[in-house]
Amino acid sequence: AEAAYTTVERSLALIKPDTYPGKKDEIMAMILADGFEVIAEKEESFTREKAELFYKEHEGKNFYVELTEWISSAPIYALILERVNGIKKWRNLAGPANSNKARAEFPNSVRGLFGTYGLKNAVHGSDSSESATREIEIVFGPEFSSVPELQNTLALI
Ligand code: TYD
Ligand code: MG
Repeated sequence: AEAAYTTVERSLALIKPDTYPGKKDEIMAMILADGFEVIAEKEESFTREKAELFYKEHEGKNFYVELTEWISSAPIYALILERVNGIKKWRNLAGPANSNKARAEFPNSVRGLFGTYGLKNAVHGSDSSESATREIEIVFGPEFSSVPELQNTLALI
């Protein structure tokens, strides 16, 4: 028999200006009920420059200026979530970026419940382990981006 390989991953989550602070407690309750461990959390205010760095992959797209302006316009709430397959698990709980699609197809997702329209889609989630490392380093610093070796060893037992 083959051992199932599992990886404990960290993802960055952001509760965006449309849902922070109003829906923070409800979103946190969903995160904990789904089984994530919260490694760190804090209120954050992105400068315009930090927002542009954070969303660099979207530079030049038609929503980039509005997106970076909006995410830096008000406080947000940042979390490091940890779990086996945590990146995919958080993307799944968050739901699709398009809030109309989220409401129609994933009504119990965070975006299905709390997303509005366009930029106002409630939360952010890292889309890969490379993105998670980069984003956690930007928001919390490099000492937070990797899962301690012991965590991954225990996940295999
Ligand atoms: P993206 O990285 O594609 O989505 P996700 O947040 O699920 O990783 O896009 C980043 C954000 O940009 C997205 O949350 C909302 C906004 N956005 C738009 O406003 N219009 C668009 O067409 C896209 C693709 C994104
Ligand atoms: Mg993205």
